[in-house]
Amino acid sequence: MKCKFCERKAFIKLHYPRMYLCEKHFMEYFERKVKRTIERYKLLRPDERVLVVVSGGKDSAVTAYVLKKLGYRIECLHINLGIGEYSEKSEAYAVRQCKKLGVPLHIVRIKELFGKGIGEVRTRRPICSYCGLTKRYIFNKFAYDNGFDAVATGHNLDDEASFIFSSIMHWNTQYLAKQGPILPGEGKFVKKVKPLYELTEREVVAYALASGIEYHIEECPHARGATTLEYKEILNMMEEKRPGTKINFVKGYLRKKKLFKIELEEIELGECRVCGMPAQGEKCSFCSFWGLEQALNFKIK
Ligand code: AMP
Ligand code: FES
Ligand code: ZN
Ligand code: ZN
Repeated sequence: MKCKFCERKAFIKLHYPRMYLCEKHFMEYFERKVKRTIERYKLLRPDERVLVVVSGGKDSAVTAYVLKKLGYRIECLHINLGIGEYSEKSEAYAVRQCKKLGVPLHIVRIKELFGKGIGEVRTRRPICSYCGLTKRYIFNKFAYDNGFDAVATGHNLDDEASFIFSSIMHWNTQYLAKQGPILPGEGKFVKKVKPLYELTEREVVAYALASGIEYHIEECPHARGATTLEYKEILNMMEEKRPGTKINFVKGYLRKKKLFKIELEEIELGECRVCGMPAQGEKCSFCSFWGLEQALNFKIK
């Protein structure tokens, strides 16, 4: 088959909207879609300094690549979680990706900070839960300490659709009240944005291939993946039967999201006595989990 717009051979068949595109026209289509997402949801202003958090995987690498191409001022941050060989490989990919892009990469290593990696802490808390808490805190604190205007993550349409799906299945209305392509900044919380919000995983894989981005394919050995993957599979089955299912589901959710707003608990946030970041009690969950008595400072020297 030929590309819809030129004489070249098709590189991909898109299902929604249905069309065949060559490599060049697919990349243009993808970049235009990211640009439109940024404009539609007012994710970023052209002059803002953006911290792209890169895991070594495809989604965040493509996010950094496209934002740079669209002219945004980006720097990247990778957190080495200290999960054995998996983390070493992830870091190596992040380094390679940023070198290729020519953007500064900052690396924070959990083992250097705490002497233990994720998965090596004796606690009753599930690994993925304290891993998530640790990542979220460091993304935000790093961005805050260094004056970034936004943190960009690689979440794609499949991630979002499956997350909303699973939140509905568990009637987790607290989550349903605040998901979306943007979490506005407030006080010491730096704005969080998802530029790939409307792009499917399949499109992201194809874009990485077209632009020659190499990435870590392996899942984390502690992957909470299993159930998330099941939801993704179900949505993919539906998408195959009815192209557009995922995007319409997510857009429909965004229109109805306000229905869940009343579920949001108004939590009084004070300041962590150790790090000064927002906290529910006297210590924030990060300082309290890691037993810190002195704040971590991520200011770039
Ligand atoms: P996940 O929660 O693993 O699906 O990751 C969601 C997003 O968080 C990714 O797209 C990345 O932008 C970011 N991320 C995940 N792990 C890391 C990491 N180790 N270092 C930096 N960013 C990460
Ligand atoms: Fe966090 Fe696997 S436990 S990435
Ligand atoms: Zn073409
Ligand atoms: Zn704290």
